[in-house]
Amino acid sequence: MQDDIERILFHATTILARADELAARITADYAGKELTVIAVLNGALMFTADLMRRIPLPLQLDCLSVASYHGGTESSGVVTFDQLTLPDIAGRHILIIDDILDSGRTLHAIREKLRTEAAPASIRICVLLKKLKPRAQPVEAEYVGFDIGDEFVVGYGLDYAERYRNLPFIGVLREKLIVES
Ligand code: IMP
Ligand code: MG
Repeated sequence: MQDDIERILFHATTILARADELAARITADYAGKELTVIAVLNGALMFTADLMRRIPLPLQLDCLSVASYHGGTESSGVVTFDQLTLPDIAGRHILIIDDILDSGRTLHAIREKLRTEAAPASIRICVLLKKLKPRAQPVEAEYVGFDIGDEFVVGYGLDYAERYRNLPFIGVLREKLIVES
């Protein structure tokens, strides 16, 4: 698996050090508020687990999973929700956690659905990675781990065709392994 990586961008220690910083900001911003963290599965699994353990507030956790990707490296533009019902978040302050902000379609669709159908008090977005490129939908994240270029990365939750999620670091996948669909 490691041989498939072109170069490592962020080692585990770097990621956790950044999680400390983000968690400190989030803790200060949400002190005294009713916070619900919503993890976008599967990509945000590891980041959410590491981040929320660093936030010493009485928060609640919910998970959502959506399909916007169909095995390749480009999002399809159509975002479908796997759950039939949304979490009960009326009146609560919501922090959506995702692995990466790419075209913005996924997070835009999730934010709009929660905003219009679940009556939260507020919604913010936290992503581990943000690709520096134009977005297809208008959405930005209030908390960002690292900015990266427009490259396909895997590891620490991020996959290519459901592989590499268990790599402890984030790296750029060798281009020759990417099968354009
Ligand atoms: P968006 O809807 O284009 O912003 O894509 C968001 C989703 O696409 C993320 O939650 C990831 O699951 C996936 N994705 C986007 N870029 C990458 C990448 O470089 N590596 C792995 N997954 C990615
Ligand atoms: Mg994915």
